[in-house]
Amino acid sequence: MSFSTDWKETVDPGEKARFEMLSKQITDIQKRRMERAGQPFRAVHRKAIAAAKAELRIGNDAPEALRVGLFKAPATHACWVRFSNGSGSHQADRKQDVRGIAVKVFDVPGPKALPGAQATTQDFLAIQIPATPFKNAEEFVAFVRGAAQPATLLPKLVGEFGLVATVKMVAKLAGTARYKVDSFATARFFSALPIRFGPYAVKYAFVPRQEAGAAVAHTGDDFYRADLVKRLAAGPLLYDLKVQPFVDEKRTPIENAAIEWRESDSAYLKVAELYLPQQDIASAEGGALAERVEAASFDPWHALEEHRPLGAMMRARGVAYFDSTQQRKAAAEP
Ligand code: HEM
Repeated sequence: MSFSTDWKETVDPGEKARFEMLSKQITDIQKRRMERAGQPFRAVHRKAIAAAKAELRIGNDAPEALRVGLFKAPATHACWVRFSNGSGSHQADRKQDVRGIAVKVFDVPGPKALPGAQATTQDFLAIQIPATPFKNAEEFVAFVRGAAQPATLLPKLVGEFGLVATVKMVAKLAGTARYKVDSFATARFFSALPIRFGPYAVKYAFVPRQEAGAAVAHTGDDFYRADLVKRLAAGPLLYDLKVQPFVDEKRTPIENAAIEWRESDSAYLKVAELYLPQQDIASAEGGALAERVEAASFDPWHALEEHRPLGAMMRARGVAYFDSTQQRKAAAEP
């Protein structure tokens, strides 16, 4: 099996200043909210659904060419997992939202994507939607700002991007409703944006091995957590970690975040398994882990150089996650 190495990034020389301004817009909202609540939390993905210990199990699944970086040789790595709702507000699970998984893999030595970084961690962050409704960070941040004041969201978007772009964005947002999450145990989670994979570029996904159905009832404010507490008390959860290699700039663009890489153009290939052992996440021990995970930072730039995030929206995230974690005084990278 061979894969294209013809991907490339297009870096706009003025983008760093733009990303810093966008990040400030998000952290200004975070600051106001933290002051009101009197406690620190993430700028987005504020509500933790659950924290759990896990293992990344790298076997012999990956095609030869994809045995690179973290996936070079069979190994089992300890991990932390944080499941979350995407909103910057702490709200009931029934409200439409992005759902996320953040995985921190430990004991991953090697040159890091962030110059000078010493930690031996590799993070993977994913949401239940395979492509963002936003083609760039400007659209994403305008939406985050608008969502903080929903009544004026639409006029603000039209004012900033014009009617045509807003209609497109809203249609795509409406389309994301079909990725409704029944249970975090049976949902697929996508990186939505690409990373390096040695000489290749890929998007990745966590694909559950649990069958859909039999989730707890969607009643009350915190039913997703109730579902995970019950499932993890009863037994382990398993997801395949799969990657979707870059094909060409038209079908699998690096810089345009709104284009979904279709599976008919590039199939997902298994490279590892994420295993969450049976555990009582509602116990005192589970609570202690949740506290550490809450204080930690999960960031796509906590990565090996061989798995460096790619594309403008990823570069924008490089600024935003740093600022959000600084403002909430997150713990140093373990
Ligand atoms: C489109 C792909 C994206 C995915 C898959 C994604 C996923 C996630 C996830 C899963 C978290 C929660 C991490 C945790 O549990 O600790 C998170 C947090 C966050 N995201 Fe994103 N995100 C995306 C795009 C963006 C963009 C474009 C921005 C801003 C430019 C952004 C800003 C943030 C911030 C500020 C946090 C909180 C960081 C912290 O304080 O720890 N995200 N994201």
